[in-house]
Amino acid sequence: MNSARHGNALTATITGILDQRKVKPTVGALPPNVRLDGDTVLITGANSGLGFGIAKDVARRGASRIILACRSGIPEAGEAISREAGNANVEMRRVDLADLRSVHALADSLRDDGVTIDRAIFNAGVMPARDAATKQGFELMFGVNFLANACLTLRLLEDGVIPNRSLAREPRDAARPPRIVYVASDAHRSGHPLDFDRFGEYRHYGIKDGMKQYGHSKLALVTFAQALASKLVVDGKPEVEVFSMCPGAVNSNISRDAPAFLKPLLSWVMGRFFASPEKAAEPVLYLARADEMNGRTGVYVHIRTEKAPADQALDPACQAQLWEATRALLDRVRSEV
Ligand SMILES: NC(=O)c1ccc[n+]([C@@H]2O[C@H](COP(=O)([O-])OP(=O)(O)OC[C@H]3O[C@@H](n4cnc5c(N)ncnc54)[C@H](OP(=O)(O)O)[C@@H]3O)[C@@H](O)[C@H]2O)c1
Repeated sequence: MNSARHGNALTATITGILDQRKVKPTVGALPPNVRLDGDTVLITGANSGLGFGIAKDVARRGASRIILACRSGIPEAGEAISREAGNANVEMRRVDLADLRSVHALADSLRDDGVTIDRAIFNAGVMPARDAATKQGFELMFGVNFLANACLTLRLLEDGVIPNRSLAREPRDAARPPRIVYVASDAHRSGHPLDFDRFGEYRHYGIKDGMKQYGHSKLALVTFAQALASKLVVDGKPEVEVFSMCPGAVNSNISRDAPAFLKPLLSWVMGRFFASPEKAAEPVLYLARADEMNGRTGVYVHIRTEKAPADQALDPACQAQLWEATRALLDRVRSEV
């Protein structure tokens, strides 16, 4: 089901506010006594907004190693999370998701340090006011919100940093299935559809039509999550549990590139009507940890409600095309970087 509810920044803001109010929860919040002791958790974009809220909750629950993959806020954000949560096991690693060379360098460092990830939360994302290019020349939202996530995921799985048998060069089992959570957006329903004749092509946009490209990048991400979930099912059981979700409207720094004259109004609206990062982090933590999700995979959650994602994300033929097209793009870039 596609919709125009996130067709532009204004309708997306109104939709976000209304959606917060009509949540019929099917996904709970983790009780405070549910712990993460013994776990290594990777979180991208943890220096700001939702990622910061997720990282604090992960740290409070006693995770044994919390790796914050960020491009800024190093080391202050990690120090603040560690201090506020009372957990010293926080480390920061630098990555610029707008540069696939940097993504590969992060993956190399995790592999070379012998890291094993139990839970990976791909949270980082951008919404610029107008089009810009990544280091390798992709449109920025496509590059950061989708391609870098796909690249990092595949590297972590192929290198066995996230243990698995299906994609790892040296297959290995985890004690229990690792989890992957992608922070996407319900705007994936309103984006430009996936068109594999033009996949990865640079698109120009401005403040009026940027939401369509944002939605497109998140549609690619949700479709990738569905494809990946299927690839990681062995004998009818997920060996890695893969989820994608929309946190709803979050009072974060996502609109940092909005026009200056709109910022005071936006900041008032966000402070008044949007969820705090801590509140918005609850369903992310649930997907990353809840025992209720054991043995499940390919689930999409909007705020706190399980829903079917957009039709293209559910279509096996589209998933297969996306998988092949993504691998082809990444292979091409890999030979160049
Ligand atoms: N806020 C909402 O209403 C809303 C709604 C639906 C979905 N989401 C999604 O929620 C996620 C978190 O966003 P947020 O709302 O918390 O916004 P935010 O406060 O702007 O945080 C975004 C995070 O992504 C990081 N990031 C952006 N570009 C990066 C790059 N090239 N390399 C590395 N990190 C990069 C940012 O790092 P820097 O600080 O260094 O830029 C920051 O840590 C995003 O995926 C967003 O699409 C948000």
